[in-house]
Amino acid sequence: MSDGFVLPRTGSLKHPIRVAVMISGGGSGLAALLRYQATARTHQTVLVLADKADVGGLQHGIDVGVPSLGIPLPTEVEAKERRVAHERLVHAALEEHDIELVVLSGYMRILTPWFVSRWKGRLVNIHPSLLPDFPGAHAHRDVLAAGVDVTGCTVHLVDEGVDTGPILAQRRVDVHEGDDESALQERVKHVEHALYPETLDRLCSGQISL
Ligand code: GAR
Repeated sequence: MSDGFVLPRTGSLKHPIRVAVMISGGGSGLAALLRYQATARTHQTVLVLADKADVGGLQHGIDVGVPSLGIPLPTEVEAKERRVAHERLVHAALEEHDIELVVLSGYMRILTPWFVSRWKGRLVNIHPSLLPDFPGAHAHRDVLAAGVDVTGCTVHLVDEGVDTGPILAQRRVDVHEGDDESALQERVKHVEHALYPETLDRLCSGQISL
């Protein structure tokens, strides 16, 4: 194992890995994962967290009876302490629910080294480009501006950088002539919805080593 990554234990159908999914938006990726997990798998979502109270995607968790809550930034805390104070609240919720793997699915906050160090190897992200190309919050816009004809998505372990951790899986998606950001985003999401659950299967059944 390199760089302090500690992977999850090997899950089984009887004792699946307890997953928390973290979201910031509509949660189509969360919905796809919950559909996949409706059949017994080596991972099971037992908690959904959002970074605001009114995030629409929380409803996907509520619909299937999974505890789903928004944890907003604590505004009563001084601005420079707020990020870590927020992460302490998130970390406490993860511990309270005995979470073994944190799955970022459209979570749009950059996590601090404080949080990453506690979950390193058990913290996974999906990014809508073929990393290391087009990291950051505006991947589709950057892909279109660069004029490339192939993009894709990447599942990776999170490290202290932005979209830089070890890559677990990637899949290519064609860019079509006339694509705008939203058309491209939808085509990439469609592929993400298959790639993320499959990759979590590999990770949670002991098929990935670093
Ligand atoms: C997904 O395409 C995901 O890859 C992207 O946000 C979208 C979430 O969609 N994540 C990032 O850009 C992370 N930097 P959803 O809310 O419909 O699942």
